[in-house]
Amino acid sequence: MSSAEIIKDVELANAPTPHESMDTVSVSGSGKGYVEGSPPDKKTKRTKPFIVLVAFCAALGGLIFGYDIAGAGATFVMDGFQYHFGWKCQDSDPTCVPATNNKINADQGFINGLFGAGAAVGALIGPGLADKYGRKMCLLVAAISFIFGASLQAAAPVISVMFVGRIFAGAGIGALSMCSPVYIAEVAPEHTRGMLSTLWQLSITIGILIASAANLGLQHWDNGWRISYGGNISFAFILLGSLLFMPESPRYLKAKGRDEEAREALARTRYEDELEEELEILAQECFEEKKLGVASWSEIFDVTNKMRYRLLLGIGLQTVQQLSGINAIMFYAPTILNKFFGSSQAIRGTFILNTINCLSTFITIYAVERAGRVRLLVSGGIIMMFALITTAILSSMTQTSSIGYGVLVFAAIYIVGFAYSWGPVVWTVCSEMFPLRARGKATGLTTFSNWTFTTIVGAVFPKASDASLSGCFGFFAVIILCGTVMVYLFQAETATKTIIEIDESFAKHQPKLKREKWS
Ligand code: BGC
Repeated sequence: MSSAEIIKDVELANAPTPHESMDTVSVSGSGKGYVEGSPPDKKTKRTKPFIVLVAFCAALGGLIFGYDIAGAGATFVMDGFQYHFGWKCQDSDPTCVPATNNKINADQGFINGLFGAGAAVGALIGPGLADKYGRKMCLLVAAISFIFGASLQAAAPVISVMFVGRIFAGAGIGALSMCSPVYIAEVAPEHTRGMLSTLWQLSITIGILIASAANLGLQHWDNGWRISYGGNISFAFILLGSLLFMPESPRYLKAKGRDEEAREALARTRYEDELEEELEILAQECFEEKKLGVASWSEIFDVTNKMRYRLLLGIGLQTVQQLSGINAIMFYAPTILNKFFGSSQAIRGTFILNTINCLSTFITIYAVERAGRVRLLVSGGIIMMFALITTAILSSMTQTSSIGYGVLVFAAIYIVGFAYSWGPVVWTVCSEMFPLRARGKATGLTTFSNWTFTTIVGAVFPKASDASLSGCFGFFAVIILCGTVMVYLFQAETATKTIIEIDESFAKHQPKLKREKWS
């Protein structure tokens, strides 16, 4: 989707933002000094094209992330990769002794596991950088760590260099996945925050698609695997270049008391007639952080301001996102489909699933402000659950190609459900639901849980699916059912709300069997 189309969509989605009354907030230091009462009503609902460009640039982190998801795993079956690391011998080399199966399995485990562990660590280091030195500094360090790691992987003369590269690349992607969504959520105006945040997920799915398309050709070239590991370095360089003109998050600057810089950053991303009003809202939002400073780790778990509640919810959302099986499909679709079809059909089937994954994300761009976060998560969760149950039943039957087509169709339905709901919306909600002073650390923890469970699913699924493929799908169905119920009962709606309104929504939210507020 071009920026022009997104901007057009943004204008269409400009539903009025209700401002609920605030009795307790008293803020000074906004320049005008906002004192008690309702926040200023935002009449204008326009989006500067520059903000869309900035969100696109930050979302490059998603491109790097997605490319790695689809790129790395595919190298395991590439001849060039197998020869280079001694997994297989070329006929022309009579002295070569191929690695044992145990060694190959261990190497694969390290390549996947060290990346996941690096990403989990990166997600925890990110908040320190983002809170202390700024969101841009976090993106900068993350991109450099990724470039370093990916260069080691692409150039790796021996497998141990590849392992070290996986740690640094993982750490970079982990920090990017913590910081990019937060940055986008903080620079975006409320009425387009969900839509622009969805660019993060859209980039992940485009990255997956680019890598899986590239792999179709790269597999035939001896050094193709180097591009599968290093091709996304180019996106990281574009991100580094973009940082030169991207503004720092005005929220971060204001919270740090750097008022003039906050004004300048905001002036670049808002129209002139909106500036004073936005600055006042910013002053309200940053009041707490200016007074109390960045929240400590112990405050993140505190019950005050429903912080613990929100943190558990965020961790729950990211955990369910992963334990509902998306990466079992993203990583292992060729292997699953291979049980029913030949390998080239399986690779084509995987490409179709990746395309569906990418295209379905546009549903979110259209619907995330209109329908709200909760509706998307609940409806998507129900679709995913039914698709998983059906896939579980089909996989328990004799593995013929007509059953295989059934599996492909229901896997596609599952992916549509995921790609418009639990994929993008979880990232969006986690980047917007926490109070500013706790945001870096809290999103660090939610992102950490995402990567921890990505790694666990990646490691356990091959063995578990050998034992029972249909059991695995059944397990994923139960998890997404639990996640959907959790959202229905506990998730307050955050769409189009300011940070203060989000605080209020959580404070007022009561779990009820019949939900009163959907959006
Ligand atoms: C998830 C990734 C997943 C991707 C698939 C993201 O939201 O976090 O783990 O591979 O969606 O599109």
